[in-house]
Amino acid sequence: MDYLCRIINDKMDSLTNINRAPIGVFDSGFGGLTILRDIRRVLPQYDYLFVGDNARAPYGTRSRELVYEFTLQAVKHLFARGCHLVILACNTASAEALRTIQQQDLPTLAPDRRVLGVVRPTVEKVGGLTRTGHIGVFGTPGTIASHSYDIEIKGMYRDFEVHGHPCPMWVPLVENRESDGDGADYFVKKDIDELMAECPDIDAIILGCTHYPLLIDKINRYKPEGVNIIQQGPIVADSLADYLQRHPEIERHCSQGGTCRYFTTEDPDHFSPLASVFTGEPVAARRILL
Ligand code: DGL
Repeated sequence: MDYLCRIINDKMDSLTNINRAPIGVFDSGFGGLTILRDIRRVLPQYDYLFVGDNARAPYGTRSRELVYEFTLQAVKHLFARGCHLVILACNTASAEALRTIQQQDLPTLAPDRRVLGVVRPTVEKVGGLTRTGHIGVFGTPGTIASHSYDIEIKGMYRDFEVHGHPCPMWVPLVENRESDGDGADYFVKKDIDELMAECPDIDAIILGCTHYPLLIDKINRYKPEGVNIIQQGPIVADSLADYLQRHPEIERHCSQGGTCRYFTTEDPDHFSPLASVFTGEPVAARRILL
């Protein structure tokens, strides 16, 4: 039946001149795979192209200008591969580049295509996950310095207090495959203790970096009891499903073959084995230049 529907859709597309292509998913490195995994769980029917800029990660300690420049390069790359919809599965890029890309670049570059981020959907959910209204945010130095979470949360829930805390060591630990090591224990405990010392009333902490779920075992080990840890994958996936329903003009450009292809700016032999641990299926990434 699915097969029949696809043939009919393909026929209709060729008659109406609609180009369908995969949904693009971008991150500086491995972190975006935590978002992609949940997106594919909720929306398995679509095709996906994942780009990880591992060669230039981490982004979180780079200047805003560079994060914008690198992110725009990745978006253009995914557009050139046909994507009509690109998800920035990266908080740093969402916080430091998304608005400029949406407002300045898209209108001339590709007015009928869309780029979405991860900050806004996360903030929309936070209201139901706290009783005290004191929210902690762990993020890269770039995300925390941008104050994106403070601005979005305050815009939506005026009485909430936001406590941002940069964790500059967490992404390097993940990118260097040290998330199970003793160094991870040290830094995760240290950052949680520092955040909670700043405000013991915090009862919800946003993992505002898509790499951080890869440290979830350590985070759960050291977080105080009763504190909600908010992971973005399921939130972003539900929000995307909702978006596609509300925007048929974008949805009809998303191809439905259930496939996923992976591209990295690093050595694929470095990327593929670790990526397959997160995706739960063999990954054969290809190297690209952005
Ligand atoms: N995973 C990204 C984020 O969500 C970027 C981390 C980095 O490259 O520093 O912020």
